[in-house]
Amino acid sequence: MCGIVGFTGKQQAAPVLLNGLSKLEYRGYDSAGLAVRDGESLAEVVKATGKLRNLAKKIDNGAALPGMCGIGHTRWATHGEPSQKNAHPHVSGNATGSASGAVESEVVGVHNGIIENYEELKAKLIANGYAFYSTTDTEVAIKLVDYYYKKYQLGPIDAINRMMVRVRGSYALALMFKDYPGEIYAARKDSPMVIGVTNGETFLASDVPAILKYTRDIYYIDNLQSVRLLPGEAHFYDLNGDEVEMESTHITWDAEAAEKGGYEHFMLKEIHEQPKAVGDTIASLVKDGRIDLTTAGLTKEILEGVSEIHIAACGSAWHAGMVGQYVIEDLAEVPVKVELGSEFRYKKLLLDQNALLIVISQSGETADTLAALRAAKSQGIRTLAVVNVIGSTIAREADNVLYTLAGPEIAVATTKAYSTQLIAMYALALAMADAKGKLEEKDYKYYIEELQALPDKISKVLEDKKRIQWFASKYYNAHDAFFLGRGLDYAISLEGSLKMKEISYIHSEAYAAGELKHGTISLIEKGILVIGVLTQEELMEKTISNMEECRARGAYLVGVASEGNYNVEDAVNFTIYVPQADGHFAGSLAVIPLQILGYYTSIAKGLDVDKPRNLAKSVTVE
Ligand code: G6P
Repeated sequence: MCGIVGFTGKQQAAPVLLNGLSKLEYRGYDSAGLAVRDGESLAEVVKATGKLRNLAKKIDNGAALPGMCGIGHTRWATHGEPSQKNAHPHVSGNATGSASGAVESEVVGVHNGIIENYEELKAKLIANGYAFYSTTDTEVAIKLVDYYYKKYQLGPIDAINRMMVRVRGSYALALMFKDYPGEIYAARKDSPMVIGVTNGETFLASDVPAILKYTRDIYYIDNLQSVRLLPGEAHFYDLNGDEVEMESTHITWDAEAAEKGGYEHFMLKEIHEQPKAVGDTIASLVKDGRIDLTTAGLTKEILEGVSEIHIAACGSAWHAGMVGQYVIEDLAEVPVKVELGSEFRYKKLLLDQNALLIVISQSGETADTLAALRAAKSQGIRTLAVVNVIGSTIAREADNVLYTLAGPEIAVATTKAYSTQLIAMYALALAMADAKGKLEEKDYKYYIEELQALPDKISKVLEDKKRIQWFASKYYNAHDAFFLGRGLDYAISLEGSLKMKEISYIHSEAYAAGELKHGTISLIEKGILVIGVLTQEELMEKTISNMEECRARGAYLVGVASEGNYNVEDAVNFTIYVPQADGHFAGSLAVIPLQILGYYTSIAKGLDVDKPRNLAKSVTVE
């Protein structure tokens, strides 16, 4: 959802900024731009539409842009179509948004997020003599800073703080002021931004991978804080303008974890990292043969007292919540309601005081999920965040945090983070079942063993990659696909269908198999792909019957089944087997071939797998 970088130091800024942006391209790739200052000279602004490589080409990979202080941006359009004019950086003056050139403006800036009251602010600024060249909310924010800067003449931090008091919405802003060469100013609310200081140089970015090459000691800027960056220095200020001390966090994961490491795409690499990601997450949650959630602050007493669970999340994380619902209800016998973050935030919340709200989020910054978390907190409900990104906003605001250990995930389509979210759901279900006395010791032991066997079984599924690749190369031109399943298989179908549509652009829907005949079956015709997830022994026959109804109408049937169920082969056209596992956890295996299918379908169509059109990895706007 837009990526920001900034640098001030002892080397040429443009190549550092381009490098940082290349690590953030997953956040948006409609257009990109840089503003760089060479000493006292005015900022030089260069923008290009499309992917980052267009910008890099324009400035000879940075060589053409001298100067050791600058800011950069890669955009995912919210206000205003993707265009040269709307690309960042934006300026406080009346620039036309020209292709490149030094700008006379007092303030130059880049922004991630949405300024909700931008129209009202724009009218105020127009009344004060400002003119606008773009249709972005960013230009409004920057001109507002300029307005306060000139009106009160109390310096950049004062102007930024006044802007923060006046605007509504979410933002991470990085600014340069004409009067302050070699300095960058930044501020944030609800959109992420991190800072690194090392060897007389200072780095700023929306996310850690962009600066990990330079330092592992990261400062997370707090909400409504502003920052002044000089070479080798970072000064933090609260909304009153008082300087505050901040502590850095040491990042332990390797920079290589955020590189492709020999794979053609991040998505393929991340698919292959799943045995490790799942294994690491299990290892962090199982101590001496028992689920131990004390690092998440969840004691047996707390779990025992939970009367009902609400899960709020978006996208794949919501799908992980759906799996959680089935498993928690079945094992722990606690009622679970799963809701989309975007819906939860606007409905009347009828929450029992002993309810637990679980929010699930890879990035820990999804705006709707964060809003759901805050809504529950405002009612005094305990909140638990299942999050991958350490130190993210959701992780910091929730009462309890259970970290998934997927490591950095770069491909827009999630794979390994989703798989680790499933593990978190299983662990919670088992811990809660144990706390509530719902499991006999021998069953508990069996489930732990089944859980710990998952990483090796996922590795086995990955060995079958070539068959799925072959299938994708034959059927990539399908127009429609339906993913069917019942119970947990339905929850997995939701994720399989999303993987297919988001990266291959094939229209795809997930359906509870029994519901298909209530209208949707009228869409089934010759050539449509129907993919049945068939891991739930007691429901499998019923789903196969529903698939038969589709075959009778011309559909091509694919079945994903557990090994041993060889009769599936007679019922469908193409079968994918996954190792046997306890039914509660079988989805962790069934989803793998569906991820691989989505990946190779996209490859067969020649699409940009890691950066599918119109999407962004973390969505920090409503
Ligand atoms: C975006 C991504 C999805 C992701 C969803 C929720 O839409 O493209 O892959 O599932 O956001 O993101 P989160 O970071 O909260 O898990």
